[in-house]
Amino acid sequence: MEYYLHIKLAHIFFALFSISFFVLRALWSVFESPRLKARWIRVLPHLNDTLLLVAAIYLVVVSHQYPFQQHWLTAKLAALVIYVVLGAMAIRRGHTPLQRGFFALLAIAVFIYIFAVAVTRSALPFG
Ligand code: HEM
Repeated sequence: MEYYLHIKLAHIFFALFSISFFVLRALWSVFESPRLKARWIRVLPHLNDTLLLVAAIYLVVVSHQYPFQQHWLTAKLAALVIYVVLGAMAIRRGHTPLQRGFFALLAIAVFIYIFAVAVTRSALPFG
């Protein structure tokens, strides 16, 4: 348990970096900026998201709170998958800037839901 609070803080920071990188990439995608193809922006977000998940697995295992046992963690995991799919639509798969912008807004809304679920430990954080 010694490192638990440090890892939780790291998890929160990785989450904040994740959405920051996402907003930046989504803006560049919508405005068709060549910066989207820069090497660092293709590598860093994935490295950060891997660390976010590694920290999440540590927290799950050490706190003995598991998805499919705790509803809020199931909701978080499911919403994370939706966030990743919407993110891919926003940055790569959307055909027009309008489509990509629309998917980016949906992805940001899902991210806000994940954050609210985490803080309230409830699958229905706004209800
Ligand atoms: C974008 C994705 C994610 C975001 C924004 C996020 C956000 C957060 C935040 C803000 C906290 C701190 C909550 C608090 O104690 O007030 C937290 C804790 C936690 N997260 Fe995440 N998280 C994400 C992904 C995940 C995933 C995929 C899992 C595992 C299924 C996970 C498992 C946990 C666990 C176990 C805790 C510790 C809760 C506790 O100490 O009781 N997180 N997360």
